[in-house]
Amino acid sequence: MYTPEPDVCHELLGHVPLFADPMFAQFSQEIGLASLGAPDSYIEKLATCYWFTVEFGLCRQDGEEKAYGAGLLSSFGELQYCLTDKPEKIPFDPVVTAETKYPITEFQPRYFVSESFEDAKEKMRSYAATIPRPFSVRYDPYTQSVVVLDKKEQLSDVLDNMQGDLNILRDALQKVS
Ligand SMILES: [Fe+2]
Repeated sequence: MYTPEPDVCHELLGHVPLFADPMFAQFSQEIGLASLGAPDSYIEKLATCYWFTVEFGLCRQDGEEKAYGAGLLSSFGELQYCLTDKPEKIPFDPVVTAETKYPITEFQPRYFVSESFEDAKEKMRSYAATIPRPFSVRYDPYTQSVVVLDKKEQLSDVLDNMQGDLNILRDALQKVS
């Protein structure tokens, strides 16, 4: 059973393998970035989205339903149960997911199913854009830190980085036939 107490089996069997997938790692980071500067009411909504994805998410792969949430991967009982037709399965949509109540210490009565990690990430990004907050944030991979974009000079740094990436893309496009 899932427990909110520290649980090394949950962390190592559930969370670690998924973070090795860059698309999933980005998805998880989207939720974190969306929370920065967000009003308290949205923090709970984001935590609920986190619960139904990173902890208890299902995702389609080649037409098949697969479990990817860490709470499922670290529970052999719920891992079997979640793929049966006993629980309710709903398409992942942050607007709906964020408002859904859930139990913590028993099997989930409903799961949200994503089409892909890419799709889940795009939906999370669109949802995050609707959160009212006074500034934008961006993860800087060079300094491995989160930058608050609230000054004009920072925007020109972002533009410089984008220009660099565009140059790489243009160069690569000429070489890939
Ligand atoms: Fe967890």
